[in-house]
Amino acid sequence: MTFERNILCIGAGYVGGPTMAMIAYRCPRYRVTVVDVNREKIDQWNSDDLPIYEPGLDEIVRAVRGKNLFFSTDIPKAIEENDIIFVSVNTPTKNYGVGAGMAADLQFWEKTAREILKYSKSPKIVIEKSTLPVKTALAMERILNSNHHGIAFDVLSNPEFLAEGTAVRDLTNPDRVLIGSEETERGLCARNILVEIYANWVPRERILTSNIWSSELSKLVSNAFLAQRISSINAISALCEKTDADITEVSRAVGTDSRIGPKFLNSSIGFGGSCFKKDILNLVYLCRHYGLTEVADYWEGVLKINDYQQDRFVLTMIDAMFNTLSGKKICVWGFAFKADTGDTRESPAIRITKRLVEENALVIVSDPKALKNARADLRGLEDRVSFVEDPMEAVKGCHALCVLTEWDLYRHQDFEAVYASMAKPSFLFDGRNILDHGKCFRIGFNVYPIGKPPMTHFQ
Ligand SMILES: NC(=O)c1ccc[n+]([C@@H]2O[C@H](COP(=O)([O-])OP(=O)(O)OC[C@H]3O[C@@H](n4cnc5c(N)ncnc54)[C@H](O)[C@@H]3O)[C@@H](O)[C@H]2O)c1
Repeated sequence: MTFERNILCIGAGYVGGPTMAMIAYRCPRYRVTVVDVNREKIDQWNSDDLPIYEPGLDEIVRAVRGKNLFFSTDIPKAIEENDIIFVSVNTPTKNYGVGAGMAADLQFWEKTAREILKYSKSPKIVIEKSTLPVKTALAMERILNSNHHGIAFDVLSNPEFLAEGTAVRDLTNPDRVLIGSEETERGLCARNILVEIYANWVPRERILTSNIWSSELSKLVSNAFLAQRISSINAISALCEKTDADITEVSRAVGTDSRIGPKFLNSSIGFGGSCFKKDILNLVYLCRHYGLTEVADYWEGVLKINDYQQDRFVLTMIDAMFNTLSGKKICVWGFAFKADTGDTRESPAIRITKRLVEENALVIVSDPKALKNARADLRGLEDRVSFVEDPMEAVKGCHALCVLTEWDLYRHQDFEAVYASMAKPSFLFDGRNILDHGKCFRIGFNVYPIGKPPMTHFQ
């Protein structure tokens, strides 16, 4: 069968895999190939055990894999054969040299650009799918157009807005797709080709176009705004705990103002995931680079509050449990950075568990999807940390239970049985405010929600 378009994605991670699966699923007339340097990951994409967990993803991949969706490690061949190339490699925070701990590490990105240059024998549209500092497309273009074979490259920016845990839903029905291009005749022509690809299933009014720099910057700013809302409500949760106000009531009152809206106003132990922190650091670094000190300081505050919220959670535990956690067994329900994913990158649970271990507690970690990653995150702490998938089994004999991920299954446990199996007095720290605190208190727990007065049986 001849396909109408041959599309390639370099980088088969959380973004590249699901995004390309969706394009292949929605556009049977296109042939979609996903390549990666990581052979193990590609083998997993070609197996029944996909490398990432996302609700609904298995079904989509199964429907199109081998028909018009292919996973491979043959990068040179794939570059040669495809004329539309998405680049979705990782862009972590740089951990060396100038900008260490702040700037984006663009080494994977630049390597990809050079490979595209090396193996291209025909014109290509190269699409930035990774989240990148504003002005990266300029560097990309300079590398690609340094060739002397007369091959034309057009660079577009098409940042991804999917959220892990809801990736399939977000890709099926996105709030918007953003495509940035140069505003030249060629740039606009390349942009229209990408618009037509998305228009196969996304309503046209949701496909936004812009200049390339606005597109690159919009992704960083979207993540910064989302994280800022979480830090804003979390900052207020600290004040609620001092004043007997209730953060849920405050959130509701604030969020019903239509100018503010109700989303992202749940107080918790804070945000995690591979993107929010790194993208804000990136934004802060850019602002400092351009001499915008006040702007950089403002956004840095969002990260400071996030760390503060996690540290505060541990301090509350120490304070509640008679100023010592030493030798106490503490059960952690949930290690993923959010529900419905196995991803633990930058999960608040990592920092909190390590702090508990520093206090000489014995931690039992439970999670339905993230234990493999949790084991890797906590390597070296095996003498203090154990891993048990069944939440009821994990909590047996513990002095305290902490809920660190908002998995639905935790809401529906038998809390009478949980209480009966724990050491007394039993402490419950709900880091996501998902449980019925009144009910748990009546069962006998001493309950510590976030941003609400604790409910204890102590006089
Ligand atoms: N994870 C998210 O929820 C999310 C959402 C939106 C945007 N993003 C952005 O998308 C980008 C990718 O994120 P991710 O979470 O998919 O990362 P990831 O680490 O899951 O995947 C990146 C993949 O790229 C591969 N890779 C690196 N260099 C390569 C090369 N030279 N050739 C071929 N493959 C190479 C890696 O092996 C890895 O499998 C990042 O810039 C991220 O900020 C992520």
